[in-house]
Amino acid sequence: MKLRDDIGTKLEALERQQLRRRIRTVDSPCSPHLTIEGRDLLAFCSNDYLGLANHPALIEAMAEGAQRYGVGSGAAHLISGHSRAHALLEEQLADMLWPYIPEARALFFSTGYMANLAVVPALAEAGDATSKRDGRLILADSLNHASLIDAAHLARTAEIIDYAHADVSAVEAALQTTPAGAHKIIVTDGVFSMDGDIAPLPQLAALAERHNAWLVVDDAHGFGVLGEHGAGVLEHFNLRSENVVYIGTLGKAAGVSGAFVVAHATVIEWLLQRARTYLFTTASAPAIAHTVSRSLEFIRGDEGKQRRAKLQANCAEFKASLQLEQWSLLPSPTAIQPVMIGGNGAALKAAQALDHAGLWVPAIRPPTVPVGTARLRVALSAAHSSKDINRLCTSLQQAEKATP
Ligand SMILES: Cc1ncc(COP(=O)(O)O)c(C=O)c1O
Repeated sequence: MKLRDDIGTKLEALERQQLRRRIRTVDSPCSPHLTIEGRDLLAFCSNDYLGLANHPALIEAMAEGAQRYGVGSGAAHLISGHSRAHALLEEQLADMLWPYIPEARALFFSTGYMANLAVVPALAEAGDATSKRDGRLILADSLNHASLIDAAHLARTAEIIDYAHADVSAVEAALQTTPAGAHKIIVTDGVFSMDGDIAPLPQLAALAERHNAWLVVDDAHGFGVLGEHGAGVLEHFNLRSENVVYIGTLGKAAGVSGAFVVAHATVIEWLLQRARTYLFTTASAPAIAHTVSRSLEFIRGDEGKQRRAKLQANCAEFKASLQLEQWSLLPSPTAIQPVMIGGNGAALKAAQALDHAGLWVPAIRPPTVPVGTARLRVALSAAHSSKDINRLCTSLQQAEKATP
């Protein structure tokens, strides 16, 4: 069949370019030690940074939530799907971000992807557009996550400018040449998902305030991990701004699933009216929100502090112990530690060599990262032991020697 042949040809091309992705099925709970197809692997690929995804108290909370609320919400939030568990979680999230965003209110989403798809088009829509160029402008970091890129494209009436990664002067130059009345939105990851570096938020927030722009921050990899209380990148910088629209996800450090937006109450009320991925989807199971609430108690309390300290110790140990010759680490201060290799084939071979040694470290290739920057994405967790980190370093060094 011609239609299917077209797809077959495209798949073969992906294979030739060593860009074809394959799915693996995990038989054990999320933890550093996974069972896959009957093999035990030491994994450095999940974003469960604090090791909460398999925490007994959270498993209990999920069961308790299901007992109390059942297993499904039955409708979208604005119909009858918004349960007390969702409402309590939103209050908790607003309270957590209150020091950083004046008059903070929170809105819970089913996933981070959906939160991003909601926020950027809804903010763009709030501007008056006489013409595309004069009306609505989105300034996006060129290394933003795929969901933010898609979100910008969904804002069909806005002009999009991709600025060089973390280049504050490029943002400033673009803002200076934009008509004063334009509706401007700066969009950035808080912690970049593939490089692990932290966005220059104090400078971006100052620019946003000076030029009357929104600053949308997707802190999927910072929430729970950065800041003394785990409130993320805003707490890390002790940054408070009414211009910030903050997005955090709950399937990474929080160990469960979902996401949220915290912003000034007026912005949240607008999202409630306009966010299509909130309005036109069934609310996720209340038991999930109930479990996330328990997870946030851990994140904000002593257990969270101890786990963040252990994560930092693991990162320091990894960076101090690893001795590379041709490959290199990026200067990432977070749990995302990319080992830069370059070619797609070499990155795949490296991942295979590690797999043979019993380790799972994913090879990341274009289009997830720019061409020529294929890498192994090492993601560290508080659940890794010092022995795990040592084994990783030794295996990476051996894989480097074995990879031409
Ligand atoms: C920076 C960033 N934003 C958003 C997302 C999407 O979040 P979710 O997995 O909750 O859809 C991810 C990854 O999943 C991410 O890395």
